[in-house]
Amino acid sequence: MKSLNSLSEDHNEVLKILETFYQTIEKIEDGKAADQKKMKDILHFFNSKFWLHFDKEEQTVFPELSMYIGGGGKPSGPVVVMLDEHQVLRESNKRMQSAYKNFETDSNIFTSEARNFTGLLRQHIKMEEEMLFPMADSSLDHSLDDEWLKTFELIEKNSDTS
Ligand SMILES: [Fe+2]
Repeated sequence: MKSLNSLSEDHNEVLKILETFYQTIEKIEDGKAADQKKMKDILHFFNSKFWLHFDKEEQTVFPELSMYIGGGGKPSGPVVVMLDEHQVLRESNKRMQSAYKNFETDSNIFTSEARNFTGLLRQHIKMEEEMLFPMADSSLDHSLDDEWLKTFELIEKNSDTS
């Protein structure tokens, strides 16, 4: 499905950003000066545009898959786990962003939060790519594609995060 491919492209983009982010974290841990401009750009991304991807999943794949599994209007099966992880990631990001504000006085708290966020997000993407998306692709009606792509467009249009 084009919609699932689009979500996978988001994943690939995010994994690339996480790679750069991780290298920067390691630099700081080694006591080297990090590119603060690059760091700020990455943190801005994780405080803005990044979350549109979660909105897209939560308004299309997750509810449809829950319906298919038999949850009626409620999240069910692996969707419950994915939604939980979305919440954990939202909270982890909040802690990371607020730790960055004190970067000058204590970079350790920030690097530890950033490591945590990076690890969680990589693991989460892996689960969606290896388990959830293949399940959605093989079990859901592919004619949902147009509707989902329209929903994605609307989410992008209504966002004010650029
Ligand atoms: Fe995702």
